[in-house]
Amino acid sequence: MESVLITGANKGIGLELVRGFAASGRHVIACCRAPGDAEDLQALASADSKVEVHEVHVSDGDSVATLAKQIGDRPIDILINNAGMAGPDFQHQGLADMDYDGWAEVFAVNTMAPLRVLQAFRANLAQGTNPRAVTVTSQMGAIGLDMPVMFAYCSSKGAVNKVMRLAAPELKKEGITVALVHPGFVKTDMGGPSAHITAEESAAGLISVIDALTIDDSPCFKTWEGNDHVW
Ligand SMILES: NC(=O)c1ccc[n+]([C@@H]2O[C@H](COP(=O)([O-])OP(=O)(O)OC[C@H]3O[C@@H](n4cnc5c(N)ncnc54)[C@H](OP(=O)(O)O)[C@@H]3O)[C@@H](O)[C@H]2O)c1
Repeated sequence: MESVLITGANKGIGLELVRGFAASGRHVIACCRAPGDAEDLQALASADSKVEVHEVHVSDGDSVATLAKQIGDRPIDILINNAGMAGPDFQHQGLADMDYDGWAEVFAVNTMAPLRVLQAFRANLAQGTNPRAVTVTSQMGAIGLDMPVMFAYCSSKGAVNKVMRLAAPELKKEGITVALVHPGFVKTDMGGPSAHITAEESAAGLISVIDALTIDDSPCFKTWEGNDHVW
């Protein structure tokens, strides 16, 4: 049975990824900051023994190390860095006004944490079958997309794309595929109610994309619909 580790698994796209992967027969290591408050995720885990819930604070090295210790040397086939944040209020992350502390926090969560989590589970992935290291990025991180808003968020996603591209050649030697995925404009707490698609639709598309990945794709930047995205 394939094993999938997902961060930010308590709500939004992460929760629907847990639901979708478990429904299709995978074992899911579902990680979030506050398992005690994650009612929907706990309900899923109670109803399906293939879902196990763990606490992790992805921007805290000790917390990630504790999670890695709990997982031990179990193989992981798919790692999904999904946890992410939009950062300071819209008007405080632009040319006229930047909340620098807020920008640093966004970088810690959206850019640095995915590498930290990847490092922590690299050996587990190396033991997996067709192992894939997937990061949920955003089209807003594409260098070529000229949408001059949300400087902190966009730069954090552009930077994580670059970090994962940098990691890809070395990981390819270990058989690990690196993929960045854009989930669409999704109706979650982050995307808001006027976004274009539901978290269920996004997760279903992402699962199809992730299932089709092979080492020959690495590194790639794909949309939830399976199209190549410009870097
Ligand atoms: N929604 C969209 O339209 C859209 C578009 C492009 C990309 N994305 C990306 O998709 C991913 C999932 O987002 P979503 O739309 O599902 O948003 P969401 O419903 O707001 O969920 C965000 C997840 O990230 C976690 N998270 C937030 N801040 C964190 C922090 N400081 N430390 C650790 N975990 C943190 C949240 O945990 P808590 O509940 O504990 O805060 C939650 O599990 C993100 O990487 C986001 O950038 C979303």
